[in-house]
Amino acid sequence: MNSISRPMKPEVMQRGEPILPQSPENGYDQNWYPICSSSEVEPDKIYGTEFMNGRVIAIRDADGKAHVMSAYCRHLGADLSDGEIIGGTVRCPYHHWRFDAQGTCVATAVNDKPPANAKLFHFPTAEAFGFVWAFNGAEPLYEVPHFPIPEEGLEYRTEFNVLTHQDHFIPYSNSSDIQHLMAVHKINLEVNPEDVEIFPHRMHYFQTMNVPGMGKLRQEVFVFGTNCVIFMSQFLGRPVLNMSSGKALPGHRTLHTMITATPKGTGQPGEAEQIDLALSEGMRFGNQLFNEDMTIMKHLKFRRDLLTHSDRMLARYLDYVRAYPRTSIACDMIA
Ligand code: FES
Ligand SMILES: [Fe+2]
Repeated sequence: MNSISRPMKPEVMQRGEPILPQSPENGYDQNWYPICSSSEVEPDKIYGTEFMNGRVIAIRDADGKAHVMSAYCRHLGADLSDGEIIGGTVRCPYHHWRFDAQGTCVATAVNDKPPANAKLFHFPTAEAFGFVWAFNGAEPLYEVPHFPIPEEGLEYRTEFNVLTHQDHFIPYSNSSDIQHLMAVHKINLEVNPEDVEIFPHRMHYFQTMNVPGMGKLRQEVFVFGTNCVIFMSQFLGRPVLNMSSGKALPGHRTLHTMITATPKGTGQPGEAEQIDLALSEGMRFGNQLFNEDMTIMKHLKFRRDLLTHSDRMLARYLDYVRAYPRTSIACDMIA
């Protein structure tokens, strides 16, 4: 009997619930987001910048501690980044109401009592690796992103200039997207999706990357929230750490930091050159990956349609994103 071989049943995964765009209606992920470089927040100055669906200000209090708050005055909505720091308070440019470093209106200019709820939205704020970070929520759900080696023991370089035209969780799906690593970056990635440890606000796993020109790199990977990924590898015999984290911007855009770090030297001969080379190579590799993705990320219309066997790692990440907590708590105040 003539047996006609049937095509193999495609191994396709269930599509699952859609992952809604980040917006005031759907909420924004409760992540730590890099807001600006620490050096941009000068004493006695007000720094204004875009964030999520609107705009925030960053200031320093009398102790030099950074604070990120909604940018629009609670009186008639003037942009407080056009104001001035007067007597340790943010003075609105319009009618000179004054707000303290926690965002509470402490005075009007006409001796009217400030309304009881005249308070800016004050984001939990932290500084790390030369950036000011704000947590989207009333209280942080996890520690600000960090390497397994304390910041004081590291030398690092930073950049904050790569812009992608997608919600932040989409570019950060890249590190779990094995098909694209091969097709776009020519990187062969070995990782077992079953070995990924998934916690409510972070992921942790090991992988081996085979990178053209760099050989096999064994990496420890940490994912914080849905907008930050850290790779720890060995290069030139020393640990090299890369962190990239994205700031959510209006219009479903994301601005990305890149941080490359390596342990400080111990004064061995030739060590300074090695550190320099490790940091340059870490930064170059991070930029190369972003550049290779750029055109695709610009035009992609995200959907989780038909995933296949090789997408198991990506499917785990997308399930993690789907379950991730969101909030709109600040959205009205910053827009
Ligand atoms: S708008 Fe700020 S004080 Fe009136
Ligand atoms: Fe990529």
